[in-house]
Amino acid sequence: MLPEQIRAELEIRIAEADHPQELAVDVMLAFQEAAGYLSERALETAAAMLKMHSLEIEEIATFYTFIYREPVGRNVIHVCDSVICWLDGSESLMDYICRKLGIAPGQTTADGKFTLLPACCLGYCDRSPAMMINRKVYGHLSRDRIDDILARFEREEPA
Ligand code: FES
Repeated sequence: MLPEQIRAELEIRIAEADHPQELAVDVMLAFQEAAGYLSERALETAAAMLKMHSLEIEEIATFYTFIYREPVGRNVIHVCDSVICWLDGSESLMDYICRKLGIAPGQTTADGKFTLLPACCLGYCDRSPAMMINRKVYGHLSRDRIDDILARFEREEPA
């Protein structure tokens, strides 16, 4: 599930931490990095490593937008739906991306290339509306800019 070296590093950090539960997100992200999402089995293992109840881990995972409890596509698009982006038209841009990719929010394209998810504020309010793909944030979105950005992903990946 976890590469041995990553697991060993996490176990050292957990052993040294005053409050191991503070590492819950790091541990979950490590499992997610290894498998693409946080499976039920990974969640149970993370809870055991942290000596926490699995329900506590589940609560944190549910709260944290960037922990995926279901398998996702190779590229995860988070469209900001917080207030500034919403005022600047993020809702219609989300609709546009849905139509363009042929999926609804929360879904993954049939080829597994994109998953589309709403997100809380991405910290790009001064460049709203914004979205994040994988770990990169894109601001000043328009339909044309979205077309350009997604075309780059299409070009960079074999079909
Ligand atoms: S409200 Fe969208 S980036 Fe802050």
